[in-house]
Amino acid sequence: MDGRDLVRSIKAVGAVGVTQGLRAVRAAWRRGRTDAAGLPPRGAERARVPGPVLEAEPGPGGGLIRFSRAELRIVVTVSGAVFWGWDGAAPEPSYALAGRWPEPDARAVLEPDKDGGWRVVAERVTVVVSRHGAVEVQTPGGVMLRRDLPPRWWEPVGGGRARWMQRSEVPADARFFGLGGRASGPRLRDGVYRLWNTDPGLPFGRGDDPLYITMPVQLVVSDAATHLVFHDTSWDGTVTLREGEEGAGSGHDRMGASELRMEGGPLRCWVMVGTPARVLLAWASLTGSAAVPPAWALGHHHARWGFGSEQEVRRIVAGYRERGLPLDAVHLDIDHFDEHQVFTVDRERFPSLSGLAEDLRRDGVRLVSIVDPAVKATAGNAVYDSGTAEDAFVRDASGRVVRGLVWPGEAVFPDFTHARVRKWWGHWYEERLAQGFSGYWHDMNEPTSFAAFGESTLPRSARHDLDGQGGDHREAHNVYALCMAGAGYEALRELSPGRRPFVFSRSGWAGMQRYGGTWSGDVATGWPGLRASLSLVLGLGLCGVPYSGPDVGGFDGSPSPELFLRWFQLGAYLPLFRTHASLRAGRREPWEFGPEVLEHARVALIERRRLLPYFVTLAHLARRTGAPYVRPVWWGAPEDRALRDCEDAFLLGDSLLVAPVLDPGADRRAVQLPRGRWYDTATGRAYEGPGQVLVDAPLSRIPVLARAGAVVPVQGEDSLELEVWAPARGRTGGGLVVPDGGDGWEAEPEMERYVSRWEGRRVVVRREGEDGVSAPPHPVRVRGLLDGSDQT
Ligand code: GLC
Repeated sequence: MDGRDLVRSIKAVGAVGVTQGLRAVRAAWRRGRTDAAGLPPRGAERARVPGPVLEAEPGPGGGLIRFSRAELRIVVTVSGAVFWGWDGAAPEPSYALAGRWPEPDARAVLEPDKDGGWRVVAERVTVVVSRHGAVEVQTPGGVMLRRDLPPRWWEPVGGGRARWMQRSEVPADARFFGLGGRASGPRLRDGVYRLWNTDPGLPFGRGDDPLYITMPVQLVVSDAATHLVFHDTSWDGTVTLREGEEGAGSGHDRMGASELRMEGGPLRCWVMVGTPARVLLAWASLTGSAAVPPAWALGHHHARWGFGSEQEVRRIVAGYRERGLPLDAVHLDIDHFDEHQVFTVDRERFPSLSGLAEDLRRDGVRLVSIVDPAVKATAGNAVYDSGTAEDAFVRDASGRVVRGLVWPGEAVFPDFTHARVRKWWGHWYEERLAQGFSGYWHDMNEPTSFAAFGESTLPRSARHDLDGQGGDHREAHNVYALCMAGAGYEALRELSPGRRPFVFSRSGWAGMQRYGGTWSGDVATGWPGLRASLSLVLGLGLCGVPYSGPDVGGFDGSPSPELFLRWFQLGAYLPLFRTHASLRAGRREPWEFGPEVLEHARVALIERRRLLPYFVTLAHLARRTGAPYVRPVWWGAPEDRALRDCEDAFLLGDSLLVAPVLDPGADRRAVQLPRGRWYDTATGRAYEGPGQVLVDAPLSRIPVLARAGAVVPVQGEDSLELEVWAPARGRTGGGLVVPDGGDGWEAEPEMERYVSRWEGRRVVVRREGEDGVSAPPHPVRVRGLLDGSDQT
């Protein structure tokens, strides 16, 4: 037992009582015993490399290259994405892919290369394969973007799953991003990153790794181009990254390096090359478009573990209303369940949940329910009984249902990798809908099972259906939450066909955006936790998951008023804007931190509501283009190295640059600006980028800058308005608007496209449509005019 295990077991005891603490010891021991009996022992292994090339055979989009001990299939697709798989690995089956993958590009040609190697030449990319099986991705101009050295496998002598290792090189100037939700990012520095979804057990800080969402997805940004690489394998593994170094003119650059070691699974990978926008578009077309949350879910959410009663929920909602603070959703945690059992209600403390939901709804506030996968293993629990009848729960290698330990005590776990089980589980959302819930918060789905030592998840030998393929938890673990999200999402589409489902999930994997978003999980209260919150959101966005946000204020303890406010101000510009905290943490209502914090929090809340049409537009754009709402400042200019290294600010869509305050005591901060003119939206003052500027950041607000020319949809008194920031003289600007305030599936809202420009002494805005140019159908307000006046 190491120190963390010890702390975790103490936490388990604290959280669930002494009896449960002892159970955590027993659960850990039982888990170990199950694996000792159920996992094949690791015996002698034989190492293998591809060996020298023998021959090549053209095929659609590329071809098959045979080596003496392995074979490699390369396919360039019409979208420009490159697939390659060793030893017969094909794109399907895959939990990441959205069911269809782009067609092979018939124009790609396989031809001999120098020294006996081969290459596939396509319009946007060239793939060069050396005679020993190194695979190099180049720009059409021949510049190297990534070189994967010949892989190495270790195969059990008696047969079975092989482990493998893949070393890669990237340009010396390259920076790594992604790998799911990492607290240490967004720029991933030298180190080892684990690929195994993990509940850290304690509130996490910067650098704690891994966390709840890991993905074998790297976004690599270099001068030559940006590329995304995805190794489509759900097994446990590690990625070791080392940034390169440039020889400052000496000509001795050291390339960047990444080494992937996987415990099993096919060696297959996808690479997408281009600008960040193009790469994320290709990624979204491969893994599916992001679900658009209902408009209300882009407002403010208030959550806490331990509201304790209906009266308390009403008191909080009234607190918001009485103080004129916008509120859109309240989340009920496990304490509203009957003894922590999923899909039940504690009738004593929540005697009329549907009545509460109705009353709240009248005030424009939705109720969101936590949903945990673990089902209390006790006869009489309806979910347990029906799941048992349905044979829904994960079994071990000997056929016994696996028992773990979660909030309700001894628990069993649905096998979400089974289509029939997903359907069965989905029915239970009917119960939630009847209680009046409008959204679902999937938790503990790494899956977590408390253990006093060892891993706090299911035994690795536990059996899963894996959609007919059959396998064990080593392969199913990382996709468990993804499959649970699919179950919830698909069920809601059927049960409530008129509404867009709102599902967000603590754990997940590549492709989870199809079903919804995520949140930080239990981020530790403290300034490092604030910084980690931003890293997570940025990193996840670059892995194709655009909707996320932190527990504002941090999960544990009591933030200082300043820290709470700075977190709140950041949260107001992130897709999921939610205050949440643990049972034993201090209060998180904005009025609990004194009148000054309340005043500034109100400003942030009102601004969030004003920006709602912009958030809705960004949600629709994320769905259509794969571009996250929250983007690193280098998004439009990855070649600007100062931007590439900036980690403390972000772009919100194309129009706004948000520079949160991440340190105590600050009232000004440096901001790295991309090219062009930027207006401080609070003062109207204009700055010219690229370069660094110092801007005011008083306690009352964080700096938000608007790009000159931007057309931003905002909520006016009673209708949508266009806020336009004057373009620089002689320049134009513009913006997109998707007007959709709802939560349904009404005919695809039309995207409105606006252009702003100077005409004489006035800034004018025109809508550009298929049938020509017209005046905007919304009121327009121009800001950023040099004399300080507003033109309407
Ligand atoms: C986990 C979740 C947290 C939740 C708690 C109780 O720690 O991450 O958000 O409040 O469980 O359900």
